[in-house]
Amino acid sequence: MRVIIADNATEVANIAAKKVASVFRQTRAGGRTPVFGLATGSSPIGTYEALAELRKAGEFDTDGIVAFALDEYVGLDYSHPESYHAVIHRTVTEPLGLEHKNVHVPDGLAADLRAACESFEDAITEAGGVDLQLLGIGTNGHIGFNEPTSSLNSRTRFKTLAPQTRVDNARFFDSLDQVPLHCLTQGIGTILDARQVVLVAQGEAKAAAVAAMIEGPLSSMCPASALQLHRDALVVIDRPAAKRLQLLDYYRHINRYQPAELEKY
Ligand code: GLP
Repeated sequence: MRVIIADNATEVANIAAKKVASVFRQTRAGGRTPVFGLATGSSPIGTYEALAELRKAGEFDTDGIVAFALDEYVGLDYSHPESYHAVIHRTVTEPLGLEHKNVHVPDGLAADLRAACESFEDAITEAGGVDLQLLGIGTNGHIGFNEPTSSLNSRTRFKTLAPQTRVDNARFFDSLDQVPLHCLTQGIGTILDARQVVLVAQGEAKAAAVAAMIEGPLSSMCPASALQLHRDALVVIDRPAAKRLQLLDYYRHINRYQPAELEKY
C-alpha cells in the first residue's frame, strides 16, 4: 500500500485526479477503454472536480468510459437528490461528460434485489473489470457500504447500514429518520478485484479509521484494512487524517526518496 500525505484537501484531490488520469491514459495505451469505479460521499468530490479540470486541459478523454458506482440506498427514489443515482449523475456523469448509459449504479429500487446485485456483478465482468476504483472511507472503516464484520470476500449484496453510518450521513438529509436503513453495495471481494485502487480521506474525523486501515491488523472489524491485500493500492490523505499513523515519518521518507524513474504517484 502506497501512502501519500498531502498538505491539504486540495492537494489530496489533485494527486488523486492525476493518478486517475494517468491510469486512464495507460489503459488506453494498452488498447482498452478504461472502466472507472466510482465512490460517493463527500471525500471524492474534490477529486472529481480536479478530474474535470484535467479533462478540460486535455490530459485525458472520457470517450466510451464505462463506470460502476460502489453502492446505493435501498428504497430511495432516484429523483431524491441524495440517492446515489442522483449524486453520481450530478458529481461525475455530467461534469466528466460520461455517457449516461455507460454509468452503472446498483438498483436499490429493484423488485428482486438479489438478482439486481448479480446482474451488477455480471456487468462489471462483461466490461472487463474495473481499471481504477476510487474510494473514500467511513469513520468506522467502511469502504462502499461494507460495514464492520463484512466478509472480506464479499460480492455485491444487500446490507443493513451501521447506526454510525446513518448518523454520519444524516447531514445529507433533513433528519436521521430519512436516512435509509438498507443499501446495496459492492463487496470487499468486488473492490479488491479492481486493477488499481485509490482511496482518499481528509480530516481528523477519519484519522482512526485511516490508521486502522493502513497499520491495524487485517480484520473485518475495519473493512478498509482489506486493502492491505491489494497489489496496487494508493492512499492519499491530508495531514489531519494522517494524525494517528505510527509510521508517518516513514511514509514521508518513501515519498521523498521515490526514485525519479518510477512514476511519482
Ligand atoms: C458513505 C459512502 C462511502 C464513503 C463513506 C464516507 O456513506 N457509502 O462510499 O466513502 O461513506 O463518506 P464521506 O466521504 O462523506 O465522509
